Amino acid sequence: MKIVVIGGTGLIGTKLVAKLREAGHDTLAASPDSGVNTITGEGLEAALAGAEVVVDLANSPSFEDKAVMEFFETAGKNIAKAEIAAGVRHHVALSIVGAERLVDSGYLRAKVAQERIIKASSVPYTIVHSTQFFEFLGGIAHSATVGDTVHLSPGWFQPIASDDVATAMFKATLGKPKNGIVEIGGPERLRMSDLVQRFLTAKKDPRQVVADTHARYFGTELKGDELVPGPGAHLFATTFEQWMQRQ
Ligand SMILES: NC(=O)c1ccc[n+]([C@@H]2O[C@H](COP(=O)([O-])OP(=O)(O)OC[C@H]3O[C@@H](n4cnc5c(N)ncnc54)[C@H](OP(=O)(O)O)[C@@H]3O)[C@@H](O)[C@H]2O)c1
Repeated sequence: MKIVVIGGTGLIGTKLVAKLREAGHDTLAASPDSGVNTITGEGLEAALAGAEVVVDLANSPSFEDKAVMEFFETAGKNIAKAEIAAGVRHHVALSIVGAERLVDSGYLRAKVAQERIIKASSVPYTIVHSTQFFEFLGGIAHSATVGDTVHLSPGWFQPIASDDVATAMFKATLGKPKNGIVEIGGPERLRMSDLVQRFLTAKKDPRQVVADTHARYFGTELKGDELVPGPGAHLFATTFEQWMQRQ
C-alpha cells in the first residue's frame, strides 16, 4: 500500500515514516526539500499518484496569526483537491486537543480551519487530536520568555511523548477512516507553569517560571482544563520523568 506522509521530515513525520517502512509499506516522505510543497502545489499531484492513504503532519514555518491561517487553509485546500484527483481513500491528520475551545489563539484557530476543510472534503478521514508533545516544552518556554523570566499559565495540560504520538499515528494510518476525531494524551495532568519549570531546572536552564493566570498560551488565556483530553481519550504511559531520562 502506498502511503504519503506530508511533513514526513518533521518530528512526528520522521518517526511515522520509519515505522511504516519497517512494516513494509511503500512510504513517501513528502516535504519541500523532497520537491513536494503543499502551499505552491509543486510536486503534489505526482506524489499522490497511486497513494491509498495520505497523512498530513506538516507545520507552518510561521506561528504568526495571519501566516499560520494562510498556511493551513491553503495547504488543506490543495491537499484535498489533489487527493480527490488521485482517488485517495483515507486522509489522516494531526491536530490538537482543545483547539476548538481556545478561539483566541491564532494558531489553534488555524488548526480548526484545517480540520474544517478535511471534514468538508469527500475523502474519508481520521483526525487525531493530541496534547502537547514533551519535545515542545522548550518551544513553550521560548514563546513566553522575557529576559530571564518565563510567564506561563498554571492551567492544566497533559503532555505526551512524540514516540507515543507516532505510535498513535501509525495505528490511525493503517486503520479504517473514523470520519471523526480520536483523542490521545500523556498519563499525567500537570500545571503548565510547574512542568516547564521542572523542564528548565532539569536542563540547568537559569530561567525562572512565573505562574500567571493571565499569561497567554499562543494568544489565549487558559481558564482551566481546555488542553486536557476528555474521558474517551487513549492515554499513553510515558511520564515526563521517563521521557527526560531518555533524552
Ligand atoms: N507541537 C505540539 O505539541 C503539537 C501537539 C499536537 C499537534 N501538533 C501538530 O503536529 C503536526 C506535526 O508537528 P511536528 O512538530 O512534527 O512538525 P515539525 O517537526 O515542525 O515538521 C513540520 C514538517 O512540515 C513540513 N512542511 C513545512 N512547510 C511545508 C510545505 N509547504 N509543504 C509540505 N511540507 C511542509 C516540514 O518540511 P521541511 O523539513 O522540509 O521544512 C516538516 O517536514 C503539526 O501539524 C502540529 O500542529 C503539534
